[in-house]
This record gives sequence, structure tokens and C-alpha cells, in this order.
Amino acid sequence: METLELKVGLEQDYRKEISGKLNFLLADFQIYYMNLRGLHWNVKGRRFFMLHEKFEELYNDTNEIVDEIAERILSLGEKPLHSFDDYLENKTIRITKNISDGDMAVRSILGNLNELLIQERDILEIASKNKDEGTGALMSDLISSQEKLIWMLTAYLS
Ligand SMILES: [Fe+2]
Repeated sequence: METLELKVGLEQDYRKEISGKLNFLLADFQIYYMNLRGLHWNVKGRRFFMLHEKFEELYNDTNEIVDEIAERILSLGEKPLHSFDDYLENKTIRITKNISDGDMAVRSILGNLNELLIQERDILEIASKNKDEGTGALMSDLISSQEKLIWMLTAYLS
């Protein structure tokens, strides 16, 4: 079967460049996902039921985001990373382990979100410069929902 070249009106060089950045972000979201599962499993204390459930909601949301980023990369004609070794090699986010204290867990999420926001803003800026509305819109959605989550988590700690 003939291989059709993907034509979405964006230059191939640009699509490769932005997909590379999206793959770094994908790797970090996979780490963030696993961090959240660890928090869901390890959290203890008086607020167990609330936090255990909240962390589940967050990792389920993150699972959806992972898929959206990967499918954006495919829409740009590139390949999303999909193995643990690739994720570990390309991640920049902090891996968290064995956190059982609720406040520490929430603080660790805030730390991860800040790391993710830096990359998302960087990708948004490059996408805007290159009139890549699809990638830009995805980043805008991630940024605004994470900013809202940061507000809520900060309110929880206050
Ligand atoms: Fe569970």
C-alpha cells in the first residue's frame, strides 16, 4: 500500500520540532500519572478517604491527557513514545515515591504541576509562532485546568 504524506498545512521541520517537545511532555505526563497512582496507594491518615479518591480522579484525568498528547503527535505525522525506558530517558519531572503524608502528597503534586506548566507554556509559545492552533489549543486547555487545580490544592493546604 502506498504511504500517503500527511498534509495538515504545517511544515515538516516544524512538525518534527514540536512533536519532539510534545514527546518530552508525554514522558513527563506518564511519570506524573505514575506519581499520582503512588500517592493514591500510599496516602494515610485522617483524610485518607478524601485524598485517596481525589488522587484517583487526578490520575484518571491524567490518563486522558496522555492520550490526547500522544494523538496530537500522531496528528502531526510523528510517533508518540510508548515504552517505560523511553519515558525514563526523556522525562524531566521529579519522580515521587513512598509519600504517605497527605500534605506532602499535595505539595508534591503542586511541584509536578509547576514543572509541567513550564513546558506547556514553552510549547504554546512555539505553536503560536508557527500558527499551530491545534497544539496551541491543547496547551491552553492544559494550562487553564492545571492553574485551576493549583488554586484548589493551594486552598486545601491553606
Ligand atoms: Fe484504587
